[in-house]
Amino acid sequence: MCEKCKGNFYITTPIYYPSDKLHIGHAYSTVATDTMARYKRLQGYDVMFLTGTDEHGQKIEDKAKNAGVTPKQFVDNIVEGEGGVKDLWKLMNISYDRFIRTTDDYHVASIQKIFKMMYDNGDIYKGKYVGKYCKPCESFWTDAQLVDGMCPDCGGEVQEAEEEAYFFRLSKYADRVQDLLENTDFLEPRSRVNEMVNNFIKPGLEDLCVSRTSFTWGVPVDFDPGHVVYVWIDALFNYMTALGFQNDRYQDLEKFWPADVHFIGKEIVRFHSIIWPAMLMSLNLPLPKKVFGHGWLLLDGGKMSKSKGNVVDPYVLSQRFGVDALRFFLLRSFPFGSDGNFSNELLISTINTDLANDLGNLVSRTVAMAQKYFGEKLPAEQTENPELDTELVSMVSGLRAKYEEQMEHYAFQNALSEVFKVISRANKYIDENAPWVLAKSEENKPRLARVLYNLLETIRVCGGLLTPFMPQTAGEIGKRLGGARMDWESLGVFGVLPADVATVNGPALFPRIDMEKELAALEALSKPKKAEPELPLAEPKAEIAFDDFEKVDMTVVKVLSCEKVKKSDKLLKFTLDDGTGTPRTILSGIAKYYQPEELVGKTLVAVTNLAPRKMMGQLSCGMLLSAERGDKLNLVMVDDKIPAGARLV
Ligand code: MSP
Repeated sequence: MCEKCKGNFYITTPIYYPSDKLHIGHAYSTVATDTMARYKRLQGYDVMFLTGTDEHGQKIEDKAKNAGVTPKQFVDNIVEGEGGVKDLWKLMNISYDRFIRTTDDYHVASIQKIFKMMYDNGDIYKGKYVGKYCKPCESFWTDAQLVDGMCPDCGGEVQEAEEEAYFFRLSKYADRVQDLLENTDFLEPRSRVNEMVNNFIKPGLEDLCVSRTSFTWGVPVDFDPGHVVYVWIDALFNYMTALGFQNDRYQDLEKFWPADVHFIGKEIVRFHSIIWPAMLMSLNLPLPKKVFGHGWLLLDGGKMSKSKGNVVDPYVLSQRFGVDALRFFLLRSFPFGSDGNFSNELLISTINTDLANDLGNLVSRTVAMAQKYFGEKLPAEQTENPELDTELVSMVSGLRAKYEEQMEHYAFQNALSEVFKVISRANKYIDENAPWVLAKSEENKPRLARVLYNLLETIRVCGGLLTPFMPQTAGEIGKRLGGARMDWESLGVFGVLPADVATVNGPALFPRIDMEKELAALEALSKPKKAEPELPLAEPKAEIAFDDFEKVDMTVVKVLSCEKVKKSDKLLKFTLDDGTGTPRTILSGIAKYYQPEELVGKTLVAVTNLAPRKMMGQLSCGMLLSAERGDKLNLVMVDDKIPAGARLV
């Protein structure tokens, strides 16, 4: 621990499946974790905030196959590509300290060692798996756990599965895990404890199938080829491999393990509160101090999901309302442990009420009055009026303690309520003191200065405590108060600003939104685009003889690589496998229709006996077939099962 720090604090989000673009529900877990991490840093802790992606499993393997790319190319695009996971966290101002990808080499090697350690200590053994498997959830279920024969998590169909597999002796740890859940604060909220104990432990914990042979996209069991490690073992241990457990990549295990808290959504509580501690017990490792299972952000009462087509796009919302407003809304509107129904109306009314009316108005009115009545600086000569000041001053002085009490229990909504009680009280204080009346006489100027000082000090403390929720806004508030102190120590004290504080004017922090107009605009954005106008058909060409057609060699080719040709806006250079063993180069004028990376791995058709032609100084040996109608052009892509070199006949 560093000498100046209050201590170390290790917090994690779940690692995300990069199977689709993330939606606002995903952002919920991460915004909450970010807020907690920023709060702990503000308090003076040395924080490690880990997030990442959970990239193995059959679902990803299948999706990659459908997209015609390798699983690694598929996940790379969703994690690192434009609009992908990392981009979203950048947009949402997520201050993670470390990002783990379960395909990172150090993690893969660590997981192999961990699996072997549990095999060597006898907690993993080889057996035969017979049961039900839910592919989308990557979960095995016993008949007793199914709900009406369906997966209890997603409600989808399950498949019969029978194969040789490795098992983890979960049953051996049933009593210890039950004791952990019932007799400690390991799992919160408390209601989730009953759910786990009654639904999973009491009916009898069975040993867990922890390897698969039906697909290959996973961490290979190094001592038994053909088996890959169950994704949840691979995923859960990320919390430790990312600190350096069983690898030399990092050396932070001693400093940060056990984790202070894992924030996770409610549907993955079972994995984190039963399987995770049991595996740690098997390896005699310290358990995380807490697992907090938060609720879901619902849409129309149900879970958001790509398959239901009802996902809400965080890019659209943050572009229209600002990132801070969106972050604030997520934590202000619903208790963290419970589900909450998302709606555009609720989002807009929260912004209008709390941010535009209460906070925004308080800041702009106060700063505008300070500037209007006194110019840049307040005068140092000020007169107190205990009758009018005491309540506000004592509320502000006591705010940090109340806020802290709530934040320590992950009660974000309550912590914000405390702040907004003070903001409302300050707005009332303006009306009670009527600065515009005081301003009329010179004699009242010292009193007017004190009123404005008290308001500026209130804004400082409230703004400072809002930093973890709305970092940019808090920074802006600090600027308006002439670069005021907003460190943790100063937020527990009233009277930190110098009496002659300088203020800086600026635009409204949160302009009021016209609810009706905005709802209509959002509605229009979510509607499918109008049908495209009919595209013109090309003129038919003159008839040709069959012999003429026979002269053309059309060959199936696979794209090995594709890149833009330097100094050309039009040309893409393809390196193709045409089945001959020698790569073929073809240049094609389609750069405005495709990004080169999206074509790698695709199966196309080329005319391969066309005389070679030089373009931009490079030789093109053939032509790729594409289909054109009006201004639309698409390459002709064929089934990936067709081998390179197959001839079109
Ligand atoms: N890969 C696993 C986690 C492994 S952790 C060792 C996983 N990934 S996920 O991408 O499906 O979900 C990541 C997080 O997003 C989960 O905590 C999940 O609960 C959360 N959410 C996904 N949709 C959500 C809502 N609609 N509302 C709130 N959180 C939700 O699970």
